[in-house]
Amino acid sequence: MSEEFPPKGAAMPRHVAIIMDGNGRWAKQRGMPRAYGHRQGVLALEPIIEACGEWGIEALTIFAFSTENWARPKEEIAALMGLIVEFFNKKIDELDKKGVCIRMLGDLRQVPELQRKTAEAAMARTAHNAGLKLNIALNYGSRQEIVRAARLLAQKCRQGEMRPEDIDENAFEDALYTRGLPPVDLLIRTSGEERLSNFLLYQCAYAEFLFVPEFWPDFTREVFARALATYFGRARRFGKV
Ligand code: FPP
Repeated sequence: MSEEFPPKGAAMPRHVAIIMDGNGRWAKQRGMPRAYGHRQGVLALEPIIEACGEWGIEALTIFAFSTENWARPKEEIAALMGLIVEFFNKKIDELDKKGVCIRMLGDLRQVPELQRKTAEAAMARTAHNAGLKLNIALNYGSRQEIVRAARLLAQKCRQGEMRPEDIDENAFEDALYTRGLPPVDLLIRTSGEERLSNFLLYQCAYAEFLFVPEFWPDFTREVFARALATYFGRARRFGKV
C-alpha cells in the first residue's frame, strides 16, 4: 500500500474528521464488555494518526466524547476517561517527537480534573509543533459550540470591542473551538451509521461524507486509504458548476 499510496497528483484533504463509531458492537460480537471495544478503539487510532502525518493531511479531528455521552453507564464513562489519560501518558512523547500539535475541542471545565489536566498539559507541550494538527473532541457538542461562539461575540459587542456589523464568517469561525483550522474536507463515520450526531455542524458545510461499514476497531490504514481513494474520486464543486 505505502508504495502506491497516495497516488501521484491526488489532492489530499487538508482536514479529515472521524466519528469513531461501533466500539460497543465490535466488543459485543466477541462477547466482550463495551470497554474492551473502546480500548481496541484507541489502538485503532494510533496507525491512523501516523498515516495522516505520513500522507500530508494537515488536520485530523476525532470525536472522543460528546456532550451526550454523559448519559452512558457510569462504568463506561469511567473506562473512556481512563483510556484518554492512558492514551496521553503512553503516546505524548512520540506524538511530540513527530511534531503533532494537540488541541482539545469542547468544554473541558466539566471534564474530571485528571483528564482535564492531562489534556491541558498535552496541549501546552505540543502547542508550537508544526506537524499534524490532532484535534480531540472531548465533552464536545456542535450546537453548544455554536451557541458559545454567539455568546462570545455578543459579549465582545457589549464590551465595545466590536460592532454587530463586524460579525462575519471570519469573526464567527474565530469564536469556534476550531479557530484557525481549515474547514473539514472529509468526514468519515464508521459502523454503517449515517448521521452527524452533533459533530462539527458548521465546519462540515462543504465536507464530503463517507460512511464505511467497518466498526471503528477494524478501521485500519488500508480501510483509511480506500476511503481516501473514494474521496479522490468525488467532484467537489462548492456550490459552483
Ligand atoms: C462510539 O462507539 C465511540 C465512542 C463513543 C468513543 C470513541 C472513543 C475512543 C475510540 C477512545 C477515546 C479516544 C482517545 C483520543 C483516547 P460506540 O460505543 O457508540 O459503539 P456502538 O455504537 O457499537 O455502541
